[in-house]
Amino acid sequence: MSFVRTAIAASLALGVSVTQAQVATKIKVGLMLPATGTFASLGTAIENGFRLYVTEQGGKVAGREIEFVKVDDESEPSKATDNVNKLIKRDNVDVLVGTVHSGVAMAMAKAAKDTGTILIVPNAGADAVTGPMCGANIFRSSFSNWQPGYAMGEVVAKKGHKNVVTITWKYAAGDESVRGFKEAFEKAGGKVVKELSLPFPNVEFQALLTEIASTKPDAVYTFFAGGGAVKFVKDYAAAGLKKSVPLYGAGFLTDGTLEAQGGDADGLLTTLHYADSLGTPRDNAFRASYAKTYKLQPDVYAVQGYDAAQMLAAGLAAVKGDISKKAEFAAAVEKATIDSPRGAFTLGKSHNPVQDIYLRQVSGAENKVVEVASKALADPGRGCRL
Ligand code: PHB
Repeated sequence: MSFVRTAIAASLALGVSVTQAQVATKIKVGLMLPATGTFASLGTAIENGFRLYVTEQGGKVAGREIEFVKVDDESEPSKATDNVNKLIKRDNVDVLVGTVHSGVAMAMAKAAKDTGTILIVPNAGADAVTGPMCGANIFRSSFSNWQPGYAMGEVVAKKGHKNVVTITWKYAAGDESVRGFKEAFEKAGGKVVKELSLPFPNVEFQALLTEIASTKPDAVYTFFAGGGAVKFVKDYAAAGLKKSVPLYGAGFLTDGTLEAQGGDADGLLTTLHYADSLGTPRDNAFRASYAKTYKLQPDVYAVQGYDAAQMLAAGLAAVKGDISKKAEFAAAVEKATIDSPRGAFTLGKSHNPVQDIYLRQVSGAENKVVEVASKALADPGRGCRL
């Protein structure tokens, strides 16, 4: 801090503008991610991805060093407003990056909007963040919950399934993923015959699995992620359902989870904006760099973190590191093509990625691409006025 003051005082004495002095200081990135709970490993992968991009740029983005301030949001919506305000008001961050959980992200979006702080969401799919709550200063590097769900609705209908049961956690992400699925599936003539749910982050699936067995649908569609996804896939197989009722999901079901799920995940089909076997030079380079740095294979969360950093870099480059120029920053991110490991993408009008959704199949430790299920799928951005 004293360096900042000294730098500003010195530059004022020299007749240099305050802006130039600010540019000489670090950009403060407030990372609000889960470090505990069912989504803890997702938070780690996002942070790893973000830091990897910064490191690849020599620790600077648009000439400015990055300083991180972190809060563990615990995927706990009731603490979200306090947590985000710590970053905005106590730590005075220049930009917010977070989070995984949709309920927490909506509180972040509200605080970002109220204060004009730039927010980049590196996972949470809450439709509202790029819908009714959208903002000129709010961007997403990930997906909307609607996107993978909608793509899977078309896939499951094409497979000839007619009656489907859905099962998920009862909160924004689960509800919206199922809604996207249902929209496409029922448009194509299918019927969602039962919508099962349990509170987040519960994992007592037994009674619901018994209900699926007695309902005997043609297929099941699900949204679970992180630790809950590991347990659901294992319990589904242990209940004997894997053999009798095909299970489909948004790709989070099998992303970052395969080691723990083992053979119980083998063969599962999911839809997502990333896969482990894209084989493009861009993705190969990213995967090699991530594996070398962290001694781990990357997953979709790592990609979203990496791309959040790329979006920050696109905006910062346009304003030559002066993040106070918010309108120019936003205009640059809106126009940018992000060279993502998933495939290059641009943002739609409501600031959500317009992207290919892959149909993937689990084979051993990988989510392998089967085909592009939905090309350049844009979230409808319903309710967003920008
Ligand atoms: C969400 O809450 O929006 C969410 C959480 C975990 C995921 C995907 C979406 O893997």
